[in-house]
Amino acid sequence: MTPGVSGFSRTSPMRVLYLSPTASMGGAERVLLDLLHNLRVAQPTWALGLITANDGPLADDARRLGVITEVLPFPREFARIGDAGLTGPRTWARFARRAAGGSMATVRYFRALRTTIAAFEPDVIHSNGIKMHVLGALAKPERSALVWHFHDYLSARPVTCRVIKRLKHRCRAVVAVSESVAADLREQLGPGADVTTVWNSVDLTRFTPGGPRLDLDAMASLARTETGLPRIGLVATFARWKGHLLFLEALRLLKETRRFRGYIVGGPLYETDGSQHSLPELQAAITRLGLNGVVGLTGFVRDSDAALRHLDVVVHASTSPEPFGLVIAEAMACGRPVVVSRAGGVAELIEPEVNALTYTAGNSQELAAQLARLVDDVSLRRRIGDAARRSAVEQFDPQRVVGQMLGLYGRLPRVKAAA
Ligand code: UDP
Ligand code: GLC
Repeated sequence: MTPGVSGFSRTSPMRVLYLSPTASMGGAERVLLDLLHNLRVAQPTWALGLITANDGPLADDARRLGVITEVLPFPREFARIGDAGLTGPRTWARFARRAAGGSMATVRYFRALRTTIAAFEPDVIHSNGIKMHVLGALAKPERSALVWHFHDYLSARPVTCRVIKRLKHRCRAVVAVSESVAADLREQLGPGADVTTVWNSVDLTRFTPGGPRLDLDAMASLARTETGLPRIGLVATFARWKGHLLFLEALRLLKETRRFRGYIVGGPLYETDGSQHSLPELQAAITRLGLNGVVGLTGFVRDSDAALRHLDVVVHASTSPEPFGLVIAEAMACGRPVVVSRAGGVAELIEPEVNALTYTAGNSQELAAQLARLVDDVSLRRRIGDAARRSAVEQFDPQRVVGQMLGLYGRLPRVKAAA
């Protein structure tokens, strides 16, 4: 019999272990943390555990919630391959070669993960990122039911997709963050896959129209703005596909005819190779496009609600289909008008001209034209922003997510632990 994990009660009616490939706070980690918080309240007798592959805000905040948290760092080589980087045949081949060839770090990691998971004796293992979907399927005890929570398009990662397909028989249920991601998963995994769409929620008491505002001008070293100058922002991690360059190009076009302030809120977040902009690179783009003094970089902010409240218009600029777009939902909850590209899961969240304005993904001219409408018309900003808050309250209620997850866990076959 395994020694168990201190504090992870054997007598709990349900024991759920979450696996996260990172403890840095991106959208998927925010969603996981909110779920942990809301489950704690809804099911106080359940044992909740978390394994993350590095230390960071997710691990700290989970511990504060009373979630038994273990940090099991990935070997360096594996940590630097981003989920998004698991696309080229060479990537997995390299990793597999190292594993098969007995790279001690990899073998040790896999053993440590298997032993740690076994010690939790979980009824359910809920993995929250592609690397953990794979590792969880390989390392799980037979009796634990595995749930894959997909925040990304599987088809965008052809190589990982092949691995996932081979492991799908080890997974009991699949959660997709939007209908768009669910459709992709059904196509990739085949008709037998049990895929449920669970839209993400937003903390509607934190992301509110009124409340503290960050001084983004000071943070971005911009001179204080004159009253009434519209403030337009992109709030995102520095992943290249988030469209920072598209956003800057649209602002360059807008500057030909309108006055405004622009902000890039966010920073490089992940340890992965090559997939992100750097601060100097974005600063150089601002200079090249003649936007110095008009557009500033604030760096990563912890209080994104207070950053969103500083803005009059929030832009979504992703150049690839966005699986969900948590920051859009948060901006809507803050009653901010959003301008979003009509692609991916985002299209499900909004109603064009009612609670958002839209443009064709990748088209900076269309984006600039929509921004011009909002810069010119305060009442349009107010109408769209008010409708956005109303939609957010209906669509992104955390109680809906908890209800859906409880329903899903309840449907999983339970295998009794050996005495
Ligand atoms: N965010 C943040 N600080 C920043 C920039 C972003 O806290 O400086 C948060 C934002 O509020 C949201 C998350 O990071 O909760 C981004 O989630 P989203 O799903 O939009 O994007 P992704 O996870 O793909 O980066
Ligand atoms: C991923 C997706 C993003 C989504 C987030 C939370 O980071 O790229 O669109 O909002 O997960 O589900």
